[in-house]
Amino acid sequence: MDFVRCDGETLTLVFALEVGGTADCLYVGACLPAGEDLAMLAAAHARGRHESQPDHPPRPGLLPERKAGWSAAPALELRRGGARALTDCRVSRWEADPHGITVTFVDELAGAKITVRWQIGAGDVLRAQLILANTGQGTLEVERLAALALPVPARFTHLTSYSGRWASEMQDHRRSVAPDGLARTSAIGKPGFHGGNWLLLHAGEEVLGAHLAWSGDHWLALEPDNQGAGDGRAMLLMGARWDAGEILLAPGDTLASPQAVIALAPGRSALAQAFHQHVRQAVLPQRAQWPLRKVHLNSWEALGFALSQAKLIALTEAAASLGIERFVLDDGWFAARRDDTSSLGDWTVCPDVFPQGLAPLIARVHALGMDFGLWVEPEMVSPDSDLYRAHPGWCLHTEGRQRPTMRGQLALDLARNEVREHLFSALSALLRDHAIAYLKWDHNRDLYPNGKHQTEGFYALLDRLRAAHPHVEIESCSSGGGRIDMSVLGRTHRVWPSDNNDPVERLRIIPAWSQFLPLEVLGSHVGPSPNPITGRRASMDFRAKVAVFGHMGVEADPSQMTDRERETLAAHIALYKAWRGVLHSGALHRLAHPDPGVTGMMVTHQDKALVLAAQTAFSPVFDAAPLRLAGLEPQARYRVTLPEPWPPKARHYLADPDQWRSGITLSGTALMAQGLALPLTHPETAWLIALERLPQ
Ligand code: GLA
Repeated sequence: MDFVRCDGETLTLVFALEVGGTADCLYVGACLPAGEDLAMLAAAHARGRHESQPDHPPRPGLLPERKAGWSAAPALELRRGGARALTDCRVSRWEADPHGITVTFVDELAGAKITVRWQIGAGDVLRAQLILANTGQGTLEVERLAALALPVPARFTHLTSYSGRWASEMQDHRRSVAPDGLARTSAIGKPGFHGGNWLLLHAGEEVLGAHLAWSGDHWLALEPDNQGAGDGRAMLLMGARWDAGEILLAPGDTLASPQAVIALAPGRSALAQAFHQHVRQAVLPQRAQWPLRKVHLNSWEALGFALSQAKLIALTEAAASLGIERFVLDDGWFAARRDDTSSLGDWTVCPDVFPQGLAPLIARVHALGMDFGLWVEPEMVSPDSDLYRAHPGWCLHTEGRQRPTMRGQLALDLARNEVREHLFSALSALLRDHAIAYLKWDHNRDLYPNGKHQTEGFYALLDRLRAAHPHVEIESCSSGGGRIDMSVLGRTHRVWPSDNNDPVERLRIIPAWSQFLPLEVLGSHVGPSPNPITGRRASMDFRAKVAVFGHMGVEADPSQMTDRERETLAAHIALYKAWRGVLHSGALHRLAHPDPGVTGMMVTHQDKALVLAAQTAFSPVFDAAPLRLAGLEPQARYRVTLPEPWPPKARHYLADPDQWRSGITLSGTALMAQGLALPLTHPETAWLIALERLPQ
């Protein structure tokens, strides 16, 4: 038996490997001291056989298979000649470097070679992947290939899983891992609103976050120990989900799973920071060269389908006067699309709305100092479209069966070359013929029947388009957050977290997504009041303060606002511009508060920090408890101010407004231990708190 350790800055992994036998991960935890005796570590955790176990208890380790009495989910399931191929893969070799390990398993009888790769990278985030090769004769059908099999240390007794629906993404649920574990799957061709591709495991405050970086269907299994291994550890498996017969490997072919992404941290803020570092350094395309995230105005909740050149020009002018930097023309600009029943697939400018094309609108947008963005939904087709009439066979369908629509649309078969060629030419022509800085790339239908290799087709199209138009920013939207993952983010610049712009809902949705993703990729818009989805009314001050914590935009018609609301909005856009450098580069801290109606988040970066403190409920006490800050240097002194405008309802309760204007100077310790007492009694009031570290 060999023992190997891999280290990040704060993380150590220890592996036990036996050529001809198994590979296991013995330790996942805080950095071990140099010189730790790894054989002793193994001895300290070895278990004797207990009753009701096979004579040689299975050791599933990094590659659980259906063998030797292991009865939980396996990492791979293969078929040959229509029959299940039961595998018995043994370690044939392994290579390790200080930050990662690659283990090769071989089963000559089954004709399979599996390579397991684990690599610790930016943020100490572990990326895991399995690669399967068909080394036998004849076709190998892959029913399942996990990206990761992680024996979870027994101290992780609780989990947080996510569920959701349209306009209410990422609802978290915390519960015990035992006795039932967790099983999640998606079967709609994308992760969906159900959040099964994100998971937290808890050991007290310590938290392990797991994610499958894949934009198609997934499966996830977390099975507590009781499946034969009998060593107290649960097994976590995650992988892409394929339909029967979808993945067929010819002799010599290989299949790489998507990557699973794992991070471990002493608390949820540290976990968010680890994932953010990973996303910033290893996922987002050329993040370091990104310009500042421009303030958007999107036409959807301002005009919907009621587009006209005159209304749009008026909207651009109103936008510019608020300080907007990018005007995004949403749905309804193309072909005969006057509502959502037609024209998807016909990506030509609607001559009725734009008799001279988009050029006059774009010229106006540029003259006002903004750049221009456009909505597209390339993977879809309306039955009422020229594209469908010309190519009725291009959509996903089952021959001889009905073609049920969703939102009046069908999905194109992106595995087909001619479909991708057509879409590339249509989108490329749009980008070539117009000065488009940004595409909002939408996807508003579940895939049924499910397409084979649909996700790979989507990636190929997106990759080709990005290579041809490298300066165009792209947003991944799927009726809001229906297709958010770190693989689509590796190809785009931001995601649309939810169609729900109601600030009360956003105060749940943004903290949930930002557990994994940094604020600069989370579109965060000020919507109308009443909100078109929830019907709730909210003050502009509240809507705008909440929207600052993300990639800020506006999705409302300024001409429907009062002068006071416009002033308040413009002031918050200016605040966002002043603080986006901090918000989009710094470390996010989730702030705890005894009142469940209070949400607190702050971002620290170099000598500055910005805090959002928001109350949604009516506080049970007159004076809500002080908000304790985080992430500050205990000994440093900070000047604390409350950037104006202040929330109209709450401002009267400030004891000494001038003091808050000129600044309160306190140590990091005082701010973190005791906090700041702010008027947070009334529902839907929010404060921004600015901190500046003073020179020593
Ligand atoms: C989806 C998106 C919305 C909007 C509409 C337009 O629902 O999530 O933001 O773009 O489509 O039809």
